[in-house]
Amino acid sequence: MTCGDARPDHVGREVTLAGWVHRRRDLGQLIFLDLRDRYGVTQVVVDARESSGAHEAASAVRPEFVLRVRGLLAARLPGTENARLATGAVELRGLDVEVLSTAKTPPFSINEPGAEVDETLRLRYRYLDLRREALRDRLLLRSRMLRAISEVHHAHGFVEVETPLLIKSTPEGARDFIVPSRLQPGSIYALPQSPQQLKQLLMVGGMDRYFQIAHCMRDEDTRADRGPEFTQLDIEMSFVSEEDVMRFVEAMAIEVSGRTVPERAIALVPFPRLTYREAMDRFGSDKPDIRYGMELQDIGELVQGSGFRVFDETLAGGGRVFAIAAPGRGRASRSEIDALTDYSKRLGAKGLAWLAVEESGEVRSPIAKFLGDDRAREVVTAAGGTPGDLILIVADRDLVAQEVLGSMRVELGRRLGLVADQSVLSYAWVHRFPMYQWDEEHRRWDATHNPFSGVMAEDEPLLATASGDPARPDQADPAGRARAMQYDLTLNGWELGGGSIRIHRRDLLERSFALMGHSMEGMRDKFGALLDAFEYGAPPHGGIALGIDRWAALLASQTNIREVMAFPKTASGSDLMLEAPSPADPSQFAELGLRFVGPARRSDGAGEGEGPKQAS
Ligand code: AMO
Ligand code: AMP
Repeated sequence: MTCGDARPDHVGREVTLAGWVHRRRDLGQLIFLDLRDRYGVTQVVVDARESSGAHEAASAVRPEFVLRVRGLLAARLPGTENARLATGAVELRGLDVEVLSTAKTPPFSINEPGAEVDETLRLRYRYLDLRREALRDRLLLRSRMLRAISEVHHAHGFVEVETPLLIKSTPEGARDFIVPSRLQPGSIYALPQSPQQLKQLLMVGGMDRYFQIAHCMRDEDTRADRGPEFTQLDIEMSFVSEEDVMRFVEAMAIEVSGRTVPERAIALVPFPRLTYREAMDRFGSDKPDIRYGMELQDIGELVQGSGFRVFDETLAGGGRVFAIAAPGRGRASRSEIDALTDYSKRLGAKGLAWLAVEESGEVRSPIAKFLGDDRAREVVTAAGGTPGDLILIVADRDLVAQEVLGSMRVELGRRLGLVADQSVLSYAWVHRFPMYQWDEEHRRWDATHNPFSGVMAEDEPLLATASGDPARPDQADPAGRARAMQYDLTLNGWELGGGSIRIHRRDLLERSFALMGHSMEGMRDKFGALLDAFEYGAPPHGGIALGIDRWAALLASQTNIREVMAFPKTASGSDLMLEAPSPADPSQFAELGLRFVGPARRSDGAGEGEGPKQAS
C-alpha cells in the first residue's frame, strides 16, 4: 500500500507504509506523523499506550526522515477527518516505526505547497523540490503526456527509432555544442540540434512513419521557452502531403491533450489555419495568440495623404501603417503613453502615434491636427476602437510595423487580462511561410525555417528565375517571393512545433542551397550524405517536430519550460545541482590534444535564434 491509498474500506487491516515525514506533531503520549510518498499523505498516530517502542522511535523523528511504519488502519474519530486528503477519513495506528534514513533540515519548506522559494535553491536542491507537490504533479503530467504520445504513434503504425547523439556538425542553424574526438585528434562531433538529416535518411531507408522523443542541444541564449537542452517529439512520414501531416498531427495533438489534461477544453477544432501573411497582418506574429481580439488593422489607405509626414513618407516608400485598439485605456495618462512609446521604440519602432477616445466619443491625439476630426474618427472605427479605447499606430517597413504592434498586443493582452478563460487550449496552424529571407549583413538568402523545405508547387516557377549564382545573390530575385510547404503549430501564443514537406530531389536541393550562397564543395561537405542518398531513390517525405518542454509547460499552465523539466539548466547554462559545466582536468584536455588558451571571445554577440530560424 502507498501513502495515497488508504480508504475507509481498509479499516481493520494491518498495513506497512514507507515514506517521508511530511509533518510531525508531538502531543506527548500521542505523536502524529504525516507520512508522504509520491502518491499522497497518510496520517500515522503513534500512541505510547499502544506501542512504547514505536513511540520511542517516533520521538526522535524529524521532517523528511524516511520511515517504515507497520500498524493498523483505523477510522478517524468523527470530527477529526481531513477532507483535503484523499486518505483523510482514516489513520494508521503505528505499532512499529523504523527509521530508514535521517535527514537534515531542508533548505526550504517541502510541506507548504504555496511557499515561494528562490529558484536558485530549488535548482541546487532539485531532489528536494521534486518532493514538493507542484513539481511532482507537473512531472506526472509530463509522464502522462509522453505515454499518450507513444501510444498514439504506435497505434498509427509509427516506428520509434533512436538516432545518435554524436553526429556531424552542420553549420546552419544555432551554434552547435561540440565534442572533441580522442581517437581522431583535431576532429569533432556535434551534438544534434535536431535529428533533421537523420530522419530524412530514415525515410530514404524505408521507415515510412518514424517518431522519436529526441534530445536536442543548441548553444544559444536561454529564454522562458528556450533552453540549451530540450526534447522534441520528432516525426517524419513518407508519401505524404502537407495536408496529411497536418491532419495526423492535429488528431494526435487532440488525443494527447485530452489524455494529459482531460479537464482543459480545446478552443477550436479543426485548428484554425492562418497563412504566414495573414498571421502577420492580423496579429503581427507568426505565433499568434488568437484567444483574444485586439487585431491589427491596416489603416494605410485611410491615412494616405493626411499630411502627417511620418505616415505619408512611410507609405510612399512602400511601408505600412497599422493600428490596434487597447480596450479601456482611453484615459491613459501622459506618462503611461510615454512608457508605451518607449516600449515600441525598444521593439524597433521609430515612434508611436496614438488617439485616445473619450467616453463621449471625442478624440484626443497629437496627430489630430493632421488627420482632422472626421478622419480621426474614421481611424478609430477602422482600428476597431470604441469610446474609452486607446488607439496605437505604428508606421514602418512591411512586417516591422506589424511585429512591433504584435508584441505590444501581446503585452497589452497580458496587462489587460484579455484572455477570458486561461484553461482553454487554443491551437492554430500557421503555414505558407516564405522560403527565404534576405540576410542583408551577409547579402544572401537564408532559409526562413529549414533549407530542406520544399517549395509550394505554384511557386516553383519563381525558383527557376533565380540567378542561382552563389557569387551574386540578388535581393530582387523573385525567389524571395516563393513560399515553402512549411507549417508551424502554435498553442496559446507559443510556437509549439514546426515542420515541412521536404525537397527529395538532389537537383532541387542543390538549387535551393545554391540560392543561399552555398558552393558545391560546401554543400558536399555539410550535406553530403543527404545529397548522395537522394540519388538512390528517395521517397517524397515531410514531417514536423514539436517541443515537448513547451507543450508540457503549456498544458501545465506554466510560463517557463524549466518548470516541467526534472533537471533544468539555469539561464547561463549551468546545472546548479551537479555543478556543470566544471573546469576540465588538464589530463582530459591532454588526452584530446587540446590546450585551454583563455576565455573565448564571443564572435557575434548573442542573438542566435532572434533572427530567421534555420536548419535544425
Ligand atoms: P525547430 O527548430 O522549429 O524545427 O524546432 C521544433 C520545435 O522544438 C522546440 N524548440 C525548443 N524548445 C526548447 N528550447 C529550445 N532551445 C528549442 N528550440 C526548438 C520548439 C520548436 O517549435 N528539425 C526541425 C523540425 C522539422 O522540420 O521537422 C526543427 O528542429 O517547440
Ligand atoms: P515627430 O513628427 O517625429 O515628432 O512625431 C510626431 C508623433 O508621431 C510622435 O507622437 C511620434 O511618436 C509619432 N511617430 C513618429 N514616428 C512614427 C512612426 N514611424 N509610426 C507611428 N508614429 C510615429
